[in-house]
Amino acid sequence: MMRLNNGSPLRVGGGLSPEDAGMAADVVQDDDGPQHLKQVSRIKHIILQKYLPSWEVILGSKNRRLCYFDCYAGPGAYEFEGQKVDGSPIIAVRAAQEYLAKVKAHQMTVILVEKDEKQRASLDTELKRVQPYGQGLQVHVMAEDVKEFVPKLLGQVPNLAPSFFMVDPYGHPLTVPILNGILQRPQTEALINFMYYRINMDAGNAKVQHHLDAMFGDGEWRTQAFLRGGGWNREQGFLEYFKCQIKAQYKLQFRIRCDVEDGVAKSRTKYYLIHASNHPKAALLMKEVMWPLGDEEGLFDFSGEKHGMLFSSSPREEELRRALLQEYSGKEEVEFDQLREETWDLPFIEKHYRSVVKQLKEEDLVEITPVSSKTDRGLKKKDRVRFLPPKEGGSI
Ligand SMILES: C[S@@+](CC[C@H](N)C(=O)[O-])C[C@H]1O[C@@H](n2cnc3c(N)ncnc32)[C@H](O)[C@@H]1O
Repeated sequence: MMRLNNGSPLRVGGGLSPEDAGMAADVVQDDDGPQHLKQVSRIKHIILQKYLPSWEVILGSKNRRLCYFDCYAGPGAYEFEGQKVDGSPIIAVRAAQEYLAKVKAHQMTVILVEKDEKQRASLDTELKRVQPYGQGLQVHVMAEDVKEFVPKLLGQVPNLAPSFFMVDPYGHPLTVPILNGILQRPQTEALINFMYYRINMDAGNAKVQHHLDAMFGDGEWRTQAFLRGGGWNREQGFLEYFKCQIKAQYKLQFRIRCDVEDGVAKSRTKYYLIHASNHPKAALLMKEVMWPLGDEEGLFDFSGEKHGMLFSSSPREEELRRALLQEYSGKEEVEFDQLREETWDLPFIEKHYRSVVKQLKEEDLVEITPVSSKTDRGLKKKDRVRFLPPKEGGSI
């Protein structure tokens, strides 16, 4: 019996729908072993691996049950640089096991939806590597089309436990109405692979444009100005339009470019990972995870080429300083975390805020009242920060 909240079990059955016409460009099938994973696809695994443990601790502090849904689960393992590596379902199971080993009497339900029989067979085999699951962990592999499964699930489970949805298709993701159905549930978030390369191509092809009507839930997208342009403007217009349709307060994007193995210019965008949530702490946590992973820290852009050559200096702290002074000088004092939450969309993480605010204190431009910190040398959480009014004739 599958438990997704504190009461009702879930009954979802039904056959598989026909295969989507998908761009299987992320992996290369090899009948003799795990599918080959491209460099640019590995990044989403790293993001998941780094994000889930903190997500579990934060949401688990107030909830005994959590759920993880892998909407497009895949085969469970890949070949990457000659090694076998875990796919997203195994990453999630391992994270859940580590979490549950630390917090007794908590529960986690992991639901892996995969409609392809061959992929599912591989997934079942790979799951054996992480069995027995241990106390508190339930794992269910669902032989379903996720576009039917999720609406059924939402219809049957009125009080879904706090949930993380991984939405990682080859082509078009869950439709916008389904994503919005997920995101309107409390404490629910999604990491969505917006496969721009493929979706943009389909937008220009009359024969498959109906896929985009289905994805957006209507044909409004056809009337948008960005479609008349090209290049970067079109891409940014398209991305913003998609993000606008997603009804979540925080949407953080990470751009992933085409792989050397894709056979197209490496400067082109392959996909965007979009993290959608309704809690500032979720957005800040994801920003901490994504920030160091780009080619250049804080760029939120990954090409697979320069990974590992991260810049050691903190880039552009000057920009953060200017933004904070402009926004807060002379205003009411704010908590340090509130400051970060209110400016969550700036490409800076906690260490930069701390460094900039401390520097401003040195310059007598802010006052800090420790609340969470034990001494006035620290700066965290509820510590209060007051930006003093700009000095006469002073510039920011
Ligand atoms: C990109 S792979 C998933 C990779 C996986 N998230 C990972 O990182 O390890 C996409 C998978 O979704 C499956 N799939 C495609 N359309 C689906 C649908 N409508 N419902 C369920 N599974 C689907 C495909 O068979 C494929 O195995």
